[in-house]
Amino acid sequence: MSDSAYREQIMDHYRNPRNKGHLDNFSFKHTESNPLCGDELEIEVKVDGGAISDIKFSGKGCSISQASASMLTEFVKNKKITEVNELTREDIIEMLGIPIGPVRVKCAVLSLVALKNGIRELEEVKNG
Ligand code: FES
Repeated sequence: MSDSAYREQIMDHYRNPRNKGHLDNFSFKHTESNPLCGDELEIEVKVDGGAISDIKFSGKGCSISQASASMLTEFVKNKKITEVNELTREDIIEMLGIPIGPVRVKCAVLSLVALKNGIRELEEVKNG
């Protein structure tokens, strides 16, 4: 895909976010904020049999943070928690498909940080 096609895809996810909203019931939720701008992103996740069966996000932020949350939530649905834990910031940047400067990296990975920290807290509760 060309740079402009990736940019278009980002704007499409920003304007028509997938999985934006709230779940009626969830296994965990977690909020993270971007320290550079104060924007907050919350994710709610339902886990069934070790996999993510449903996920929604809410909050506000720039086009990069909202588009990456939309793309990430689509990507992780029905994936195993073990697979999700292996996702890295490079995976997110690759998903976005455009060069991301150092300041915007925090925007790009906000949803991944929220998801992984939420999973870690859930596992800590389970493991006592
Ligand atoms: Fe706030 Fe990107 S500027 S999340």
